[in-house]
Amino acid sequence: GSETIYRATTTAPVNIAVVKYWGKRDTKLNLPTNSSLSVTLSQADLRALTTASCSASYTGGDSLLLNGEDAEVTGARTQACFRELRARRAALEAADPSLPKLSAMPLRLVSENNFPTAAGLASSAAGFAALARAIADLYELPASPAELSLIARQGSGSACRSLFGGYVAWRMGDKADGSDSMADQVADASHWPEMRALILVVSAAKKGVSSTSGMQQTVETSGLFKERIASVVPRNMAIMEKAIAERDFAAFAEVTMRDSNSFHATCADTYPPIFYMNDVSRAAIRAVEQVNAKAGRTVAAYTFDAGPNAVIYYLEKDTAAVVGSFYHILGAVDGWKASTVQSLATTSAVI
Ligand code: PMV
Repeated sequence: GSETIYRATTTAPVNIAVVKYWGKRDTKLNLPTNSSLSVTLSQADLRALTTASCSASYTGGDSLLLNGEDAEVTGARTQACFRELRARRAALEAADPSLPKLSAMPLRLVSENNFPTAAGLASSAAGFAALARAIADLYELPASPAELSLIARQGSGSACRSLFGGYVAWRMGDKADGSDSMADQVADASHWPEMRALILVVSAAKKGVSSTSGMQQTVETSGLFKERIASVVPRNMAIMEKAIAERDFAAFAEVTMRDSNSFHATCADTYPPIFYMNDVSRAAIRAVEQVNAKAGRTVAAYTFDAGPNAVIYYLEKDTAAVVGSFYHILGAVDGWKASTVQSLATTSAVI
């Protein structure tokens, strides 16, 4: 009857890019200026948990409760996801008139992250991946992770990579309608299960410049960015895919650090410049260099998104050298919170 509430719940993991997405060629469809590659983190540590429901008895239109607070659903990105998913449900309903008309009912989303939102920890990635999956499950859509990645991408670009576990590429594609700009699994987590990530929470505060406006400013004003798109990223993608295939940590680490540096250099090259890293971030970079020098080989790699927090990739066998040294070196640095999250880096469980 009209009181029936239809419901589906899902989780989606965080992913942290080792070759960064930075720049949109189409802001409406979230089409990127370059391909990117990330590692999906364990859902045991960092994830969005989302319930989607709909009912003819719901009044007041669509709604979203994010970490217990009312959030915007009228934004173009959220609307694009809702529209895509409703259209697919409406097609099923048209083909089978016995199905309940869920596509016409208001949607309620309730989502919770178990980590700070908008602190450069890719909360939007897990959030939009979970949103797309939860509504697809609610609507009983026969959607593959690749197809859902096309939808999640329209919510937040990096979200398309959170539909897969393990090592994930987002292929930029070249079609104007974005139908070939989707995620693709490069390797399952089981291919390189020793991978780990250490997250150094420098600040849990909301970031200063949103990724959307940071990207726009970079595309419009940075000369260095043109070089990054034309040659730096294509080279990094090729070396990274080979490093993953061969489980070559030294190569993986070098590309990860170089690509993070390149991304932050383009931000510093915008006018006016954008700085996501702070003094504590830079101390973390020096700490990684010390750890690697002390080990006599590359055991750790840093990367930073659009915020000051560091993510350090390392292999399980080097846990003592990496994690122990970090506490030791950074313990003396003012502003570094000991609130680190140690995370199994990869997950093979596809949400
Ligand atoms: O998905 P967005 O719009 O939040 O952009 C994410 C950008 C970076 O996190 C800095 C890089 C990436 O590839 O995840």
